[in-house]
Amino acid sequence: MSLGFRPTLTLISTMTTFSLSYVPCFRTGSSSTDNGDPPSVWSFKIYSAFTSTKITRTTMYAALPLAGVNGTTLVERTMIPTQKQFVDPFRQGLIIMDGVGYRQTVVVRSYEVGTDKTATLISIMNLLQETALNHVWMSGLLGDGFGATRGMTRNNLIWVVTRMQVEVDQYPIWGEILEIDTWVSASGKNGMRRDWEIRSHDTGIVFARATSTWVMMNEKTRRLSKIPDEVREEISPWFIHNQTIKEESPEKINKLDDNAKYINSGLQPKRSDLDMNHHVNNVKYVGWMLEAVPDECLENYQLSNIVLEYRKECGSSDVVQSLCEPEELGIIQDGVQGGTDVNYINGCSIGIGGGGLLNCLMNEGTIRFTHGLQVKEGSKCQEIVRGKTTWKKRNNRYTFCG
Ligand SMILES: *[C@@H]1O[C@H](CO)[C@@H](O)[C@H](O)[C@H]1NC(C)=O
Ligand SMILES: *[C@@H]1O[C@H](CO)[C@@H](O)[C@H](O)[C@H]1NC(C)=O
Repeated sequence: MSLGFRPTLTLISTMTTFSLSYVPCFRTGSSSTDNGDPPSVWSFKIYSAFTSTKITRTTMYAALPLAGVNGTTLVERTMIPTQKQFVDPFRQGLIIMDGVGYRQTVVVRSYEVGTDKTATLISIMNLLQETALNHVWMSGLLGDGFGATRGMTRNNLIWVVTRMQVEVDQYPIWGEILEIDTWVSASGKNGMRRDWEIRSHDTGIVFARATSTWVMMNEKTRRLSKIPDEVREEISPWFIHNQTIKEESPEKINKLDDNAKYINSGLQPKRSDLDMNHHVNNVKYVGWMLEAVPDECLENYQLSNIVLEYRKECGSSDVVQSLCEPEELGIIQDGVQGGTDVNYINGCSIGIGGGGLLNCLMNEGTIRFTHGLQVKEGSKCQEIVRGKTTWKKRNNRYTFCG
């Protein structure tokens, strides 16, 4: 079931530029109207060290009651803007890059970090998703659903991700303040590229960069769609050419099969893994992929790069297999097949083979894995995602007690 509401809300916001740091907000004028309707005017008083600005949001509610709780519709409760917002003190967000990019300040929370008190890759990817959605929220284009514009909603279109790459130089620590920038550009004729940069708020040092490619899918037929003109008109004014990860020709990721060195079988989506589009959220796939990586790697190495190629949707009843292959075995096979003479990789002799070679490589600086997720359909396997990860030895590991 969809939470279906159409954004019938008009939200006008008058504001002047002000510093986003330390802005306590007070809601005023929120009394209900006589007939029990929600208030038509919300006022926010925003104070900062430099300026005192009053933001007034005039909100018009739908004439017909829409799905909601306790007499309050979801539209009223979330107040999705239908006009571009330049700053949002509650989301700690603002529009940057001459009006087309989005920046949000976030603090790394306790539940976002792992045993070493640094944000997990999954947390980072969730933050990428969150900031991307908030970017659409601020644009005033958000329709019904998961980042879809109103034009997309009218055409039953949803976004699907086809490729994602995350490069992490340094993992943020619990309590650290981050600044995340995100923006979009065209990708080919019918795709959109979204990039991100995550920096330390205090030093400006870049912790991570990410890029992704998105296409539109018809929600009903599940077929990919061209971008309709009406949608192109909505989104193209937001395009800016600014690639955070320079595009070399993308490396081919090999298909893995049941002969992969590490296999995790029987992974099944839980109800809580489904997102607003009613399919397994793509961040969830990454968790499944990393589950297949051997423990000794996770202990001593830190993921520095991940590339994901999404190939098929995963339904809630599918049973998933996670395949993982250390890179050097692939090279051996290619070497043999291609007749090339490959004897050493990173100074490790291929002759020692399998585990010995993996151990040898793990004593060097970097290791790489190829990944695959597949679902079994009878005797056939359908690929959901292919991936490649690069791991660096943890040398200056952050320890909390010094
Ligand atoms: C909705 O909830 C509020 C707070 O719990 C309560 O005061 C109010 O009476 C409720 N309204 C309705 C229509 O049930
Ligand atoms: C490109 O993105 C980076 C990272 O957010 C930003 O610092 C830079 O100003 C952007 N360049 C342009 C031309 O917007």
